[in-house]
Formats: sequence, structure tokens, C-alpha cells
Amino acid sequence: MAREETLPTSDFAFDLLKELRVPYNVRRHSLKVADKALEIAERIKSKEINFDLIEIGALLHDVGRCQTHGFKHALIGANLIRERGLSEQLARICETHILGGIDKEDAKQVGLPERDYLPVTLEEKIICLADKYLAGTKEVSIEQRFKKWFEKYGKTPILVKAKARIENIQEEIKNLS
Ligand SMILES: [Fe+2]
Repeated sequence: MAREETLPTSDFAFDLLKELRVPYNVRRHSLKVADKALEIAERIKSKEINFDLIEIGALLHDVGRCQTHGFKHALIGANLIRERGLSEQLARICETHILGGIDKEDAKQVGLPERDYLPVTLEEKIICLADKYLAGTKEVSIEQRFKKWFEKYGKTPILVKAKARIENIQEEIKNLS
């Protein structure tokens, strides 16, 4: 069983984004993702959810974008969180929010250290899903989100797999409400 970890406050999270000079558009996106993730979490009745983790995790999920907007922002964000001695649960949220999560095989292809970056806990899944619903600050459907990505990058195996994975997460969460 994971030990209880103390989470920072939302003020701390905002200050950290500011201190690390995470761009304003990313900060606004993160606020929207937090709203959306909380909205999704509130609909779930049959499972216990850590709302504080959802809020703070969503605010910090893109913290790694202070260094890069590439896939590595997930890992960089997780490492920034770990370096500061913050909750491992927050680091995991950073690491598992890209696409529908990234598996070992995809990780290798996108230049990440070869291991799974898949959302496992409900909180990780909710933030990963909420992030897909927000293109910047604009709310979109999973279909719209992937349509844009398919137009931009083509129907690559990674994107096709990611869409199926996020649809599964969407379905799993829907069935909990
Ligand atoms: Fe991100």
C-alpha cells in the first residue's frame, strides 16, 4: 500500500509554475484541465477519488513544458517534481498524461527511456483523459482531438494505439458514474 503523501497547495503549484517560467498559455491550459478533471471526478460515485491529487496533479501535469514541448516534457516534469521532494503521485501524473499513456515500445520510438508510461490509478487516468479534452483552453471531443493529430502527423501506429487506449479509459470512467 502506498504511503500517504502530503500534497502541496494550489498556491504552491501556481508559484512553482511561475518560478519555472512555464508559459502563460500552458498555465491557462492546466487550469482548464484541473476544472475538467474535477468535473469528471465528481461524476464518479462508485469509487473513492483523491480530489486534492486531481486538482494539484492537473495544475502540475505540464510543468515539464518549462523545458520542452516534446514528449520528454512528461519525464522532465516528473523529475522536476521528484527533485523537489514532492509527492511521487504527482510525478506519476506528469509521466503518464501524454497521449493515452505511452507503452514501452512507443517510448523507444519517441526517444523516451524504454519503459511503460501508462496511467494506472484512477487519478492518473482522469487527468490523462481531461488533458485530451482540452486543446489549449478549448474543449474538444476525443474524436476532434485525434482528427487534428491525424491530420498533422498522419495515422501513425502510436496515435492509433493512443486513441484506442484513451477511448478505453473514457469508457471505464463512464461506467463508474
Ligand atoms: Fe502535457
